[in-house]
Amino acid sequence: SEEAWEKAYQIYNDFVQTLPKAKGWTTQNVIKYQGFWLTPTSALKGVLLVQHHFKPRPTDIFLATSPKCGTTWLKALMFATMNRSSYDFSSHPLLKNGPHDCVTFIEVNMCQDYPIMNLELLLSPRLLAAHIPYDLLPVTKTTFGCKLVYIFRDPKDVLVSTWHFMNKLRPKKLQPLSLGEAYELFCEGISHYAPFWDHVLEYWKASLESPDKILFLKYEDMKREPSVHLRRLAEFVGQPFSFEEEEKGVVQKILRLCSFENLRNLKVNKTGVHRVTDEIVVNNCDFFRKGQTGDWENYLTDEMKQRLDFITEQKLKNSGLTL
Ligand code: A3P
Repeated sequence: SEEAWEKAYQIYNDFVQTLPKAKGWTTQNVIKYQGFWLTPTSALKGVLLVQHHFKPRPTDIFLATSPKCGTTWLKALMFATMNRSSYDFSSHPLLKNGPHDCVTFIEVNMCQDYPIMNLELLLSPRLLAAHIPYDLLPVTKTTFGCKLVYIFRDPKDVLVSTWHFMNKLRPKKLQPLSLGEAYELFCEGISHYAPFWDHVLEYWKASLESPDKILFLKYEDMKREPSVHLRRLAEFVGQPFSFEEEEKGVVQKILRLCSFENLRNLKVNKTGVHRVTDEIVVNNCDFFRKGQTGDWENYLTDEMKQRLDFITEQKLKNSGLTL
């Protein structure tokens, strides 16, 4: 009933009021829930709904990422790999749809008033994405059986990429964030689904405990040797490229289809939009900026670089993970 709904809504609002707040990137504020900073309406709502209502299947394949680490690329590569027997490269769905419309974020999908994609209707194995931290993702208890791919990226490039992207999404009524402000927030661990390092480390540790369930990749490695990592991805999800496929150049065809240059120049990604929620609509072109490693050199001063590298070093110390 309307009354019950209003009561539930009130409880939720009261609960949100109790959470710590900080300056937001695309919203006035972000709030801290169980150690991570989330946007108060969309992300927090999505995470809570996933925690309570998402029904995982043992066959699910998850792409888990911290924002701006290469989600778009990974979505395209995995979608093309897992569905390679269903589609022809000349009429592939990725030629007409943005990668984010091919693979949905569960937390985004669930926070709609109506689901964009009915997750229950997707055939197994489902390919799903999430920015949700490991400890808050109900499917990651690896005994359950889901497999998960995580992608890590140099935090200096993550910062620069995030700064560009979030300013595009930032409502006009809020002043754009300067690089200096963005830098401070990022270093303090205040950005979407951050602290960045905590997000990475939770997945990294889990991948060491269950290497058969969690594949941990680096954006920089993927850029350097894409075919090596695409083969790893295919094997990881139990669909290794056959000898015949190798002969036919399927690996190269997938890489070409999903390459930054190819995707960025498609009409759908030049002029199309991705509807995150009714209020949040992203131009597909904003997911494709430069697609390179080391672009931070064009933005960060020596001092900024050193401090950020120092934080990373301290945070990753003794974890076995290096840049
Ligand atoms: P830059 O801003 O450094 O260019 P996410 O997909 O997680 O939002 O991350 C976005 C970053 O990945 C952006 O980085 C974007 O340009 C880059 N990217 C998008 N598509 C890519 C692709 N097909 N190959 C390589 N990088 C890609």
